[in-house]
Amino acid sequence: MKNGIEIKELALEYCPEIVEIHRAIMKGNISDTWRKSIELHLQKKDVVGYVALKDGKVVGFIIGEVKGPSFGLEKSGWIIGLEAHPQFMGTGIGRVLMDSIFKYFREKGVRDIFTAIRWDAVDMLSFFIATGFDRSEFVNLGKQLDNVKTE
Ligand SMILES: CC(C)(COP(=O)(O)OP(=O)(O)OC[C@H]1O[C@@H](n2cnc3c(N)ncnc32)[C@H](O)[C@@H]1OP(=O)(O)O)[C@@H](O)C(=O)NCCC(=O)NCCS
Repeated sequence: MKNGIEIKELALEYCPEIVEIHRAIMKGNISDTWRKSIELHLQKKDVVGYVALKDGKVVGFIIGEVKGPSFGLEKSGWIIGLEAHPQFMGTGIGRVLMDSIFKYFREKGVRDIFTAIRWDAVDMLSFFIATGFDRSEFVNLGKQLDNVKTE
């Protein structure tokens, strides 16, 4: 336990609490598909997650995935979800969660860790820089299918 923050593996039973954190961050504006996608992720064998508890209450979570050969790398770790409850942001929860997943990735033989953030998420960018991330050798490319004609 660090700073009164306890870390536990993210099990399905914590889903209602992490949905509440997401709801608080998004100011109520979330769809049911978000919860379903988290539940589906947690059933995959290469996906891992942790929750942070303070005084028994879930105050943050992290979800990551180990990818096999892809993007020219034999193995890589991906952070696919990370949130701290707004009332507890800036109190070290993100850092403790990150340390837990770093440990997990290291145990799995992962050396390279990646994530993606929205281009304007400056808070996330500051957090990732503070926890040692830098620009990677990849660039993200995007395309919308709406205007693509298919036969
Ligand atoms: C990003 C986030 C997970 C970080 O968790 P946290 O518990 O608040 O961060 P920590 O207190 O562990 O901070 C760790 C480091 O990151 C830095 N940091 C965190 N948030 C920061 C911010 N908004 N601006 C600048 N630096 C920040 C801290 O300064 C700290 O550095 P230090 O230890 O050297 O002082 C959390 O703030 C969050 O959930 N933000 C909202 C995420 C979001 O909007 N997601 C959208 C969902 S789609």
